[in-house]
Amino acid sequence: MGNFKVKDHYFNKAKQENFLARSIYKLEEIDERYKVLRPGISVVDLGYYPGSWIQYTSRVIGDNGQVVGIDIQEVNKKLSGVKNVRVYQKDIFDIHDLSQLDVPDAFDVVLSDMAPSTTGIRSLDQDRSLNLVESVFGLLPRFLKPGGNFVIKVFDSQNAQNYLKEQKNLFKEFSYLKPKSTRSVSKEFFVIGKHFKA
Ligand SMILES: C[S@@+](CC[C@H](N)C(=O)[O-])C[C@H]1O[C@@H](n2cnc3c(N)ncnc32)[C@H](O)[C@@H]1O
Repeated sequence: MGNFKVKDHYFNKAKQENFLARSIYKLEEIDERYKVLRPGISVVDLGYYPGSWIQYTSRVIGDNGQVVGIDIQEVNKKLSGVKNVRVYQKDIFDIHDLSQLDVPDAFDVVLSDMAPSTTGIRSLDQDRSLNLVESVFGLLPRFLKPGGNFVIKVFDSQNAQNYLKEQKNLFKEFSYLKPKSTRSVSKEFFVIGKHFKA
């Protein structure tokens, strides 16, 4: 019962506030706690579709900032009119360098809310999720500026925990958070890395 209530509350709130998905409240909580975003910066949002994180980010970074989104889904036209936003239909596994996103410099912030389409076979879903996480960490040396911030969604598993432990020294601060708007049965949590050491 509790989960349905959580779903209804955040789903309805997102609808009323004109956000494209309830995921907005996860990023909002993360940003309020960890101060990941600020005006004027460049951000890449991996797995942006439908785009509530882009809407939130676009607002915080303002006219002098720039947010680039990629997703395997067809480009969401609702975002194409927004001045500081650019979105691409691409698979993360095909992304290797910044020129593919038409940007000259690494980003101040890398966000990833990517999730694989789930099969229901737990070990397979965990492996696919970890593959995505590893591919994002693999991009950081080219995509994230030294001193930059990072947020990534992770599905919990022993392998994921082990992998994250090996990565934590990449950042000055490395924190885990399960936002309030995440359904309590969900195995997902977020990793927040601050000040990339590169
Ligand atoms: C939970 S949704 C993101 C919601 C988004 N943060 C928002 O606020 O609207 C996860 C997204 O990850 C995308 N995704 C999964 N695998 C991907 C891949 N290999 N490359 C790019 N995007 C991927 C999915 O298509 C899906 O749209």
